[in-house]
Amino acid sequence: MYTKIQSAAIKKLQQIVGEKYVVFDSESLASYGHDETEDFLFFPEVVVKPCSAKEISEILVFANKELIPVTPRGAGTGLSGGALPIYGGIILSIERLDQILEIDERNLQATVEPGVITEVFQNAVKELGLFYPPDPSSKGSCFLGGNVAESAGGPKCVKYGTTKDYILNLEVVLPTGEIIYTGANTLKNSTGYNLTQLMVGSEGTLSIVTKIIVKLVPHPKYDLLILVPFRILDEACAAVSEVFRAGFIPSAIELMERDALDWVCRFTENNMVKVENDVQAHLLIEVDGNDLEVLTKEIEAISVLMSKYNTGDILFADSATQKQELWKLRRRINEVVTANAITKEQDTVVPRAELPQLVKGIKQIGENYKFKTVCYGHAGDGNLHIRILKGDLTDEQWNGEYIKNAISEMFILCKKLKGTISGEHGIGYIQKEYMGIVFSEKALEIQKGIKNIMDPNRILNPGKIFV
Ligand code: LAC
Ligand code: ZN
Repeated sequence: MYTKIQSAAIKKLQQIVGEKYVVFDSESLASYGHDETEDFLFFPEVVVKPCSAKEISEILVFANKELIPVTPRGAGTGLSGGALPIYGGIILSIERLDQILEIDERNLQATVEPGVITEVFQNAVKELGLFYPPDPSSKGSCFLGGNVAESAGGPKCVKYGTTKDYILNLEVVLPTGEIIYTGANTLKNSTGYNLTQLMVGSEGTLSIVTKIIVKLVPHPKYDLLILVPFRILDEACAAVSEVFRAGFIPSAIELMERDALDWVCRFTENNMVKVENDVQAHLLIEVDGNDLEVLTKEIEAISVLMSKYNTGDILFADSATQKQELWKLRRRINEVVTANAITKEQDTVVPRAELPQLVKGIKQIGENYKFKTVCYGHAGDGNLHIRILKGDLTDEQWNGEYIKNAISEMFILCKKLKGTISGEHGIGYIQKEYMGIVFSEKALEIQKGIKNIMDPNRILNPGKIFV
């Protein structure tokens, strides 16, 4: 259904972006053929690295004419396979669009290109006393463009909101080549349909983002962090909603099941945290703000609240280094678990108070299907990352209907608890067959209709989100 790339197409792409920025040696094709999702590898036929919206537009016009699939790619840190070129064709890398174009201190806004690394941007605005809160674990390498594509989250989102809450306006190139702005650089906007939010989280299937106008907030002056060990997993989950019901909004409240923290502690040879034998889970809780006295009272009150459960000694991180260490441990869980075991990850999310029921149900499904899970994630958002471990499952079970049935059961449970199947990683390539669990046929038809109107020849990131 798609056209294979021949030398004439390579020539045309070279004319558009320059010879140097069209690569097709086998090493490059392999390195652009995977992201952080399981062990998938799909070879593109060519990698193209444009430097402007105009060049991207020309590439898309050409790809449309020739029916060549185009897969946009950020830093390749995705966990749902959104950047995998499953039909070959062109990988369109946004790595050269890497400029912070403006930080507007008057309006607390910034205009950035999509290839800017999230943490680089956070540090640049921090120097001016400003804060861009969305902080995926891969913030040291992921791109803001990829964050927009997946509506990425992270620990801070529980207080500050996810990527979608910070995107005011976008310049995008449509699959048919037109360049448009989706909205206005305003905090409020009730002017027509919300095209900006349609693009956020659309996983590179509707447009390629070329400029991002983000909202910033003042950077809080202080933060305090505690690590609370729980002897009963269920209690750790129940304690999360208790914190909010008691009137606190922590700037992070992360759940780490025993194995998650234990593995990462051993792997990184840390000597700050020792996971005791009788501990089943930890909550990492942070508060932030401008008044240290108020924060101290808050974290103490939260600790008192926690001690009504069956907890071990609470660790107060009392130096910047200790805080950094604890956050490093938390952020490396994904990397360490995947390095130590064959796993599949699910990005489940439910209303916060349903977290105990979700975890209980997940463990029961694991027991029924004879696999273990390591759970961790943004408990305050009800967003639980579930790493299913292959363990003793056969290859046939792991790659076939057996595991799919188990995953379906997990997602049916999410739906039953009024949640959904991805909180921040996206649907991409790996979760598309489960969309029918959470959407009615009509709701899916509307979404596919939008895709068809915008991308009638289906050249942009085909094979993602929908079966
Ligand atoms: C995390 C990533 C996997 O929370 O979302 O570490
Ligand atoms: Zn996460």
